[in-house]
Amino acid sequence: MEPLARGETSVWLRQPGRGVVADEAPISLEEVTEARARFVRFEPVLHALFPTDGWEGQIRSELIDYPATPNLLVKCDHALPMAGSVKARGGVYELLCYVEDLALRRGLLAPGQPLEALLSPASLAVLGASRVVVASTGNLGFAIGRVARAFGLQAQIHMSHDAKTWKKDRLKAIGATVVEHASDYTGAVARARLAAEAKGAYFIDDEDSRRLFVGYAAAAAELASQVSARGLEIGAGSPLIVYLPCGVGGAPGGITAGLKQIYGEHVLAVFVEPVASACVFAALAVGGGAPVSVYDFGLRNDTIADGLAVPSASPFVLQAIGRNIDAVVAVTDQAMVRWVRRAWAEAGLRLEPSGASGFAALAPFIDQARTAGLITDDARPVHVVWTTGGSMLPEAEFSALLATD
Ligand SMILES: Cc1ncc(COP(=O)(O)O)c(C=O)c1O
Repeated sequence: MEPLARGETSVWLRQPGRGVVADEAPISLEEVTEARARFVRFEPVLHALFPTDGWEGQIRSELIDYPATPNLLVKCDHALPMAGSVKARGGVYELLCYVEDLALRRGLLAPGQPLEALLSPASLAVLGASRVVVASTGNLGFAIGRVARAFGLQAQIHMSHDAKTWKKDRLKAIGATVVEHASDYTGAVARARLAAEAKGAYFIDDEDSRRLFVGYAAAAAELASQVSARGLEIGAGSPLIVYLPCGVGGAPGGITAGLKQIYGEHVLAVFVEPVASACVFAALAVGGGAPVSVYDFGLRNDTIADGLAVPSASPFVLQAIGRNIDAVVAVTDQAMVRWVRRAWAEAGLRLEPSGASGFAALAPFIDQARTAGLITDDARPVHVVWTTGGSMLPEAEFSALLATD
C-alpha cells in the first residue's frame, strides 16, 4: 500500500497458476442464463420506452479493434444505449427484475405473458405509485433514474459528492428526485438505505446485490460470441485478458464471474482503480479478501474518475469473485486523462476518465505479468479494454477534459 499512498501506479497480482478456485458465494450458470433470457424478454419494452436511441432494445455494445495495435480490442460499453455506461447492464437489470416481479405480484402480468403488458395504462398506474431508491457516484443513478422514469416509477437518487452536475441536472429534468450528499459514496449508500427503509421503497443496493452482479455477468456471453465471430481462439497460450474499470466492484466482478464460467483459467481479469480509491486492491493486498477502507492507508479517495471514487469495496462482490480476480492495477488521474485524449485522437472514442482507465492499466500490467511469468514470452494474448462510460458527456464537459493537462 505504500506506493499507493505516494500516489504511484501500482500492480497487485494473484499468485500465478492457481487456476479457477472456489469462491465463498459464487453465482451459478443458471442465474446468468436467466438474466440473459430476461434481457431478451424485455427488448420490445425497452425499445418502446427509448425509441430514439437507434436500437432494437438490445443492451449490447460493439467490440472493435483499437487502431494500429494488433491484439488490442475495445468493448464499447461507453456507448451503451439508455445510460452511456456499463451501468445499463447491472443497474438496469435489477430494475427490470423489480418491475417484472411487481407486475406479477399485482396480477398485471401472467407468468409467460409477453412483457408489453407492462406498458398498459393499468400497469403504468401501479408502477407510477412505486418508488425505487439507489445511491451512486453518478452513472448508476443516471442509468437507473432514466429507465425508472421511463417506466413512470418514482426514483430517488442519492448522489455522493463526486457526482457530476450534468448527470444530476439531467435526472432532475426527467422528474427523478436527486438527493445530494456532501459525503463519499459509502456514506451516500448508508443514507440511501435508511431513506428507502423509511419510505418502504425498493432499494437497489450497489454494495450488496446479487441481481446487479448477475446483470453484469450476462455481458460475458456477448463478448464471447464477438470474440469467436472474429475467429479468435482463446485457450492455453492465447489467454483473453480483460481490463475492467472498478468502483465498488459490481461491474468488473460480475463480468469476471461470467467470463470465468465460459473461459475458466484462460481469461485473466484485471481490475483497474484510481490510485486514490484503490479499494479492491486494498481488500486483496492487505484485507485478506474482505473490504477495508482506503482512508486507513493514507489514501484520500479524491480522483477525477468520479465513477470509480469508492473508498471500500462491496463485501458481496469479494465473496462472489474475490479469489478469482487475477490482478488489480491502480492508475493515476494523469494517466486516465491522457488516455481520454489519446482514445479520442486515435480512435474517436468519447470517454470519461473512469471509462478510459482500462487503457492506462495495459502497460503496467503487461510489464508486471511478464516479470511474474503470468504472461510467457511465447504467449499470444488477446487484450480487451472495457470502456465503461462517456458517450453521453455533454460537449462542454468533454472539451474541458481534452483541455486538461
Ligand atoms: C464509468 C464507470 N465505469 C466503471 C464503474 C465501476 O462499476 P462498479 O462500481 O460496479 O465497480 C462505474 C461505476 O459507477 C462507472 O461509472
